[in-house]
Amino acid sequence: REQRFTAIYQLYSAAQRLYQHILLNTTAGEQALAYLHEQRGVDDELIRQYGIGFVPGDNVLLSYAKEQELSPQLQNDSNLFLTNEAGQSRDRFANRIVWPIANASGQVVGFSGRALDAKNPIKYMNSPESEFFNKGQLLYNFDQVKNNIRQASTAMILEGFMDVMSVNMLDPAIGVATMGTALTSDHVRQIKRLAKKVLLVYDGDQAGQNAAKRSITLIDQEAPEIEVGVIVLPDNLDPDEMRLQRGLPALQNSLQQGVLTPVEFLVSAARTGRNLSNQAQYLDFLKEVMVILKQASPVEQDIQLSRLSEEFGTDKGALQQQLATTTIPKIR
Ligand code: UTP
Ligand code: MN
Ligand code: MN
Ligand code: MN
Ligand code: MN
Repeated sequence: REQRFTAIYQLYSAAQRLYQHILLNTTAGEQALAYLHEQRGVDDELIRQYGIGFVPGDNVLLSYAKEQELSPQLQNDSNLFLTNEAGQSRDRFANRIVWPIANASGQVVGFSGRALDAKNPIKYMNSPESEFFNKGQLLYNFDQVKNNIRQASTAMILEGFMDVMSVNMLDPAIGVATMGTALTSDHVRQIKRLAKKVLLVYDGDQAGQNAAKRSITLIDQEAPEIEVGVIVLPDNLDPDEMRLQRGLPALQNSLQQGVLTPVEFLVSAARTGRNLSNQAQYLDFLKEVMVILKQASPVEQDIQLSRLSEEFGTDKGALQQQLATTTIPKIR
């Protein structure tokens, strides 16, 4: 087993170097390189720092594997190739920009590839789940920033690779990504060994906001001692879009000034999709808010009720009374 792993890991490292060489130094990588430079604000230094590469469409890795006389077993186990019914293999990540994904020790254990063609229905493709690659256990970039996370006792959890690259231009670099999947208990266990605080910075879209709600609940169950902060970026932007469209200082400002407590975030999220000047919808909103506040500290309850009273002109005593008579439904 040990030997199999060593061989696979060597192949991953070789693939990473080959892909990066193609991106930075060959004509086959020119289009992808121009895309990263011009459309994504990613320069060569960043490409090297994150080990990014490009996989052209002509089976370079397959040629390499043949040249090195790698066993069919090894080629198959690596998941770097796709094989059709006729038994013909080709490079799995063809025509994609690829990010190597390392485990907590820094060993590359898989890749994620982004389509260059905007019309490709599969924007990101990852290494499939295997004994080497388990998304539920991997936090992208954790190996690079774990010391910073320990020092700051804070981790920032993001959705994607580009988001990690953007926020880690700031100091301290504490950004890791769950790569589109939900945060898992295992992720939380890894983080809580190093940090007392977690900042959730998901995309501003509905999916991102739903993910934030789930993560708040999960962290509360898995590690109630962890303090959680939620940052919602303006105008549905993700951190990477924020940097590109508004600049790094604007992103920094949001990350520093825009931290909400979980209760603040949940109350604010309860507004979405409701017209609060409509009485029925306002009452419905209040019901949801009361359930949220039922689990909040007395001080936070007071702050939120004051805010609501002020904003909507509802008597604070009446709000307090409604909170007192609210019961938490068993299934939320
Ligand atoms: P997003 O869907 O938010 O990526 O997925 P994006 O911001 O549009 O992508 P860019 O900025 O145009 O490149 C967030 C992250 O989720 C993971 C990837 O890590 C991605 O960066 N993801 C997404 C997957 O792993 N697989 C998927 O199919 C989709
Ligand atoms: Mn998207
Ligand atoms: Mn997203
Ligand atoms: Mn995004
Ligand atoms: Mn993005």
